[in-house]
Amino acid sequence: MLIKTPQKSFLRESAVTDESLFQERRILLKKMGFLGAGTLLSSAGSNKVSARFFNDDDVKFSTQKLHYSQDELNVHLIKTPEQKVVSHNNFYEFGAKKHQPAELAQHFNVNPWQLTVSGECDKSITLSYDDLINMFALEERIYRFRCVEAWSMVIPWIGFSLASLLTKVAPNSKAKYVAFETLYDPKQMPGQASRFLGGGITYPYVEGLRIDEAMNPLTLMSVGLYGKTLPPQNGAPIRLVVPWKYGFKSIKSIVAIKLVEQQPPTTWNRLAAKEYGFYANVNPTHDHPRWSQASERRITSGGLLTRNRIPTLAFNGYAEEVASLYQGMDLSTYY
Ligand code: MTE
Repeated sequence: MLIKTPQKSFLRESAVTDESLFQERRILLKKMGFLGAGTLLSSAGSNKVSARFFNDDDVKFSTQKLHYSQDELNVHLIKTPEQKVVSHNNFYEFGAKKHQPAELAQHFNVNPWQLTVSGECDKSITLSYDDLINMFALEERIYRFRCVEAWSMVIPWIGFSLASLLTKVAPNSKAKYVAFETLYDPKQMPGQASRFLGGGITYPYVEGLRIDEAMNPLTLMSVGLYGKTLPPQNGAPIRLVVPWKYGFKSIKSIVAIKLVEQQPPTTWNRLAAKEYGFYANVNPTHDHPRWSQASERRITSGGLLTRNRIPTLAFNGYAEEVASLYQGMDLSTYY
């Protein structure tokens, strides 16, 4: 575990967003001033209106062992430039192309906001925007983030553990799973109003975790990145981050969290169950039917020609912390 001081790169934020938003987002950094120790956990359907993920590297279906130089392996430790994190997004509510969320989400109104936590628990709660920012001690966690499309980033998130939120509502013994739901507001989210723009997904976007996955200390409710509140395209005002799972589990702009007894439906599993499982743990030995998951393209400051292909790690490098959750399970059946 490596302790890092908060990044100074926040000053460059004024270049990527308007000044008032920049001022508002700086408040979070100020609040983090004495809390912000970073943590690098370093163990080790198509456009015809059905949504599909695309592997943008044209990686051929293959699991052959690749050879990596030390330089390439070092790429694992480089933080992704903030400008890439906020401009290369998957947020289908604002368009299915990587550049669209940053363009189409800029006027997304996140305050006021309501997040309800309810279901199989003793005391349901509803949190306001201010609660999300102020109710919990915020910390910075630098996590690897691996998309199922075989690209990846290293992102300094700010947030609090989902466990600390769930503990507040006191889950009862029937709470076996946690279901998450994104805001449904087609007036603000053009992808929800157009099947073409929104990639054919049935909205609202939904996700789920098993209760022990939800309570794992790595599971983060994120309200910020790079020392500031989340930009809309990254899931403002609050999103989930589950670093050992493919990125589609990390649902954005959450309005409802429900403790439930049965495994809840999840958006990508509903669309293509053979391609996207409920678990979606990063697994280099279980290929996607259309491409290999053995390696990934780490997004760095370089362009498309940069040598940045690196091997994918089991559980995205967090096996020490989470592999025990899946003991006795066949991970190629429960993908
Ligand atoms: N959450 C919602 N509501 N809608 C989405 O389209 N995309 C998912 C996930 N959460 C998505 C979402 C996918 S596929 C990925 S890879 C990550 O968000 C991308 O997060 P990022 O844009 O912050 O990198």
